Amino acid sequence: MASGIAVSGLTKRFGRTTVVDGLDLEVGEGDFLVLLGPSGCGKTTTLRCLAGLETPDGGTIQLRDTTVFDGRRGWNVPIHKRDIGMVFQSYALWPHMTVRKNIAYPLKVRGRREAIADGWVENAADMVHCGDLLDRYPAQLSGGQQQRIALARGLVARPGLVLLDEPLSNLDAKLRDQVRTEIRELHQELGFTAVLVTHDQDEALALGDRIAIMRDGRIEQCDTPERVYVEPASDYVAAFIGMSNRIEWERVDGGWSSPAGARVGPDDLGALTGQRAVSRVRPDDLRVHPRQPDDLEGAVALDADLVTAEYGGRHVDVTVRAKETRLHVRVGTGDAGTWIRSLKPGEPLAVSAPLASLRTYEGDR
Ligand SMILES: Nc1ncnc2c1ncn2[C@@H]1O[C@H](COP(=O)(O)OP(=O)(O)O)[C@@H](O)[C@H]1O
Ligand SMILES: [Mg+2]
Repeated sequence: MASGIAVSGLTKRFGRTTVVDGLDLEVGEGDFLVLLGPSGCGKTTTLRCLAGLETPDGGTIQLRDTTVFDGRRGWNVPIHKRDIGMVFQSYALWPHMTVRKNIAYPLKVRGRREAIADGWVENAADMVHCGDLLDRYPAQLSGGQQQRIALARGLVARPGLVLLDEPLSNLDAKLRDQVRTEIRELHQELGFTAVLVTHDQDEALALGDRIAIMRDGRIEQCDTPERVYVEPASDYVAAFIGMSNRIEWERVDGGWSSPAGARVGPDDLGALTGQRAVSRVRPDDLRVHPRQPDDLEGAVALDADLVTAEYGGRHVDVTVRAKETRLHVRVGTGDAGTWIRSLKPGEPLAVSAPLASLRTYEGDR
């Protein structure tokens, strides 16, 4: 792999708190990597270390085979010498500058006057469909336009590496989808290496060539979207990638028994060695039934009570309670959807899931 980015043992502390904890990461030249994780796990700090906006406490960072940070050697290349474009969550446009001057800013600080004269600013504005806004001020723009200008500013110097920190999270849902597609198109067209930070799984799946799921300052899994979606490496990753249902298990009498009320055979959850396990399953993979089917081959079934059934157009989002375990089921708005919407809260039903749809992990963390 030609190395766009190679990070090794990256560590950053604020006071006594270790925010980035020996993080390793590789991004191929021209690849689009998404850093996905909950608020506070260290995504922004990692990105700021790559950009040179934070000084790490240890580790190394190589950008395109140039070492830009080495904790032991005391190397730290400043941001304007790193060939990086940055797009911030808050847009961070200068309010007293026109759009033209905002976009031109990275060229100006790099002393690239010839690029400004050659029309790179207009070109970047056109790329984000804002060519007619160059003489306005940020206060005269909508949120979507401001974010596009921030994008143009990140791309104007034609950097080899573009870092984007939650660039879509301040936009409303429709705009978010539009700008998301535009980012993907720009990446395909211009071929830069990208690292985008988000806490949104759909965004991560849509944009990433690879997704790195972050937990407490480290990468828990780094894989293609397909691999992350189908084979999440841990309970934590599974939960983060939409397997919102959690079923706990304990080994009992040579089989597995769940406090949610299910029982399966000793080999039904795969090869496990411990006494406890946790399964994850997507709402789409659960089925609802009036009562437990008799002919359930290769599936797990549970008795439950209805909590709510929310109509969602093409599906109904159903919440049920199996003893103390809450489960979410997504049902199509066909017969099953019509039937479930006829039930009252508290009425009994059964749910099932094919064993093949469960992802099961050792322990009960
Ligand atoms: N400049 C700072 N000084 C002290 N603590 C900070 C600073 N920046 C971030 N933190 C803390 O570091 C942790 C990780 O922050 P951040 O990297 O912004 O996470 P994320 O982007 O994943 O939400 C948080 O607990 C945050 O409060
Ligand atoms: Mg952040």
